[in-house]
Amino acid sequence: MAKDFETMEFSNFSANPSIHEVCDPARRLWVQGGLAGLASGVFGSILPGCAALPAGPLLGFKAVPSASTDTLVVPEGYNATALAAWGEPIGVAGNMPAWLADAGNSAADQEVQMGMHHDGIEFFPLDGSRHGLLVMNHEYTDDGLLHPDGMNTWSAAKVRKAQAAHGVAVIEIESRGEGGKAGWQMVRPSRYARRFTAYSPFSVAGPAAGHALMRTAADPQGRTVLGTLNNCASSQTPWGTYLSGEENFAFYFDGGDKLDAHQLRWGMRKAGFYRWPEHDERFDARKHPNEFNRFGWVVEIDPMDPQSTPVKRTALGRAAHEGAWVALTRDRRAVVYSGEDARFEYIYKFISRDPVRLAGAGISAAQANRDLLDHGTLFVARFSADGGGQWMPLVHGNGPLTAANGFADQGEVLIKTRQASDLLGATKMDRPEWFAIDQQRGEVYCNLTNNSSRGAPGMPGVDAANPRANNVMGNIIRWKERDDFDGLTMQWNHLVLAGDPANARAEAKGNIKGDIFACPDGLLIDARGVLWIETDMHATQMYKGELVRIGNNQMLACDRASGEIRRFLTGPVNCEITGVTLTPDGRNMFINIQHPGETPTDRSDPAAPAKFSNWPDYRAGGRPRSSTVVIRRTDGGLIGT
Ligand code: FEO
Ligand code: CA
Ligand code: CA
Repeated sequence: MAKDFETMEFSNFSANPSIHEVCDPARRLWVQGGLAGLASGVFGSILPGCAALPAGPLLGFKAVPSASTDTLVVPEGYNATALAAWGEPIGVAGNMPAWLADAGNSAADQEVQMGMHHDGIEFFPLDGSRHGLLVMNHEYTDDGLLHPDGMNTWSAAKVRKAQAAHGVAVIEIESRGEGGKAGWQMVRPSRYARRFTAYSPFSVAGPAAGHALMRTAADPQGRTVLGTLNNCASSQTPWGTYLSGEENFAFYFDGGDKLDAHQLRWGMRKAGFYRWPEHDERFDARKHPNEFNRFGWVVEIDPMDPQSTPVKRTALGRAAHEGAWVALTRDRRAVVYSGEDARFEYIYKFISRDPVRLAGAGISAAQANRDLLDHGTLFVARFSADGGGQWMPLVHGNGPLTAANGFADQGEVLIKTRQASDLLGATKMDRPEWFAIDQQRGEVYCNLTNNSSRGAPGMPGVDAANPRANNVMGNIIRWKERDDFDGLTMQWNHLVLAGDPANARAEAKGNIKGDIFACPDGLLIDARGVLWIETDMHATQMYKGELVRIGNNQMLACDRASGEIRRFLTGPVNCEITGVTLTPDGRNMFINIQHPGETPTDRSDPAAPAKFSNWPDYRAGGRPRSSTVVIRRTDGGLIGT
């Protein structure tokens, strides 16, 4: 998410399956457990250490130059094809309304079409690397584009359409060709096609389920929430489900003039960014104060079971979650890393009580682990100046987390994760975005995208983990836990400080070895061990001097052994590059282009590129559309080599 949201985010890694089987004992376990069709893709994302894949250099492509044109540029010998843009029908049988270029589709149409502003994305194989599901988030809406008459006037129908354009989509895709483009197409109709929107039912699980602070007039049990909002990053679990973070949920609520300390700490404002409350009083916190507590959770979706109900996992804590990422301990307990993308907020990890269970006869791994994330312990990170750090338990009764300090029970600790972390003295970070996990090496990477308020008057100053005042460029931090992922102490350092090494200003000068970038957001370690970095520079930041040389938002590849970072792709004007997933054979990469043409508000730089994008359709005067892109090598080879 970019632009206006950034000013508001503020209140304090060919995965050849056979080789995998040879090199990874844990994966063999899964195959024996009946997950053969699923395991390569799922484990490809978290077991990157199996680097003995077909020979080739880790980074074998020719870098692309920085760019300011309204095009998507990939290296020589690659091609990129847009797929599943906003408004395309997802493929519900008998209900596949075509996208109307004048944005004339109704709310009912939008409910069965791709949402707006594609973000995190994951490929779930149905048949190896030629056929599978894509699950992706639709983070937010640009209502100026969503409606034929823009966003100056509002109605209940427009609010309903905006709500329908949010959430998550599950689509089925298939490769129907050979060679360079491989002919990827949506399968329509599909029995898997689903949309989760701002009013789809989600069950609530974990310690905060049913808590008094989760109950509303419409849901007196506090166990069923309508909708998921502002879903940002994504990941796959080892048991084959999709995790999504509810990021900037606070902007959807109107708080009125009398905001309490809890509301203020979570960034609620008198009036939210959207105008939903005028036509849907659920988002008026004056009337329904607890509805606010029902967002900010990590949601888990089983895309393989079209009948499944998605779940909000409260044991992972409430936060403006960018997303959540799963590592496994040697004894197969799940360790879920997360953070919240807001200035001066925190980094968390959850350690499951139980080991991940195997699939059984007639029971999928997803079903066998349906309550795995409901039992365990949440911790918050403190990074020390000496390169060490510790994880502090967010457990009721621990230290100051008592009734006397406003935490009646564990449910309240989880609903007020920020306040609890404040009391434990957790480290205030520069906006933690995506994480990536190197399962084999036991390393965790996290993008700290930027924080221009670091060191400003009245604001927290620099610390070892967040070392730059006015951090407009961001950095990538990484750590390794003591012994195993469940270690309660760590050693950390920075992989890289983003920014231009040629820049004289301290806050803009990075230490990148290779191609320059700023504001790292998306992150993945692939099956070969390449660290893929995606950027989301604020559309206005781009035009402020130093950032011009960096150009449009981009995707880069990092060889962590040499430290080299090489630019792989540049996006169209004013887009953000986000979400990245590969097929198990490593020969198809899917990314998302979000908000192409996002209107810059700062027009002061005459070198600023064209105001509007009309990617990917290039229809004269047409509306730009967020879209998934499939990237292939023209010779069908491994991506990145
Ligand atoms: Fe939705 Fe933090 O980007
Ligand atoms: Ca971002
Ligand atoms: Ca993001």
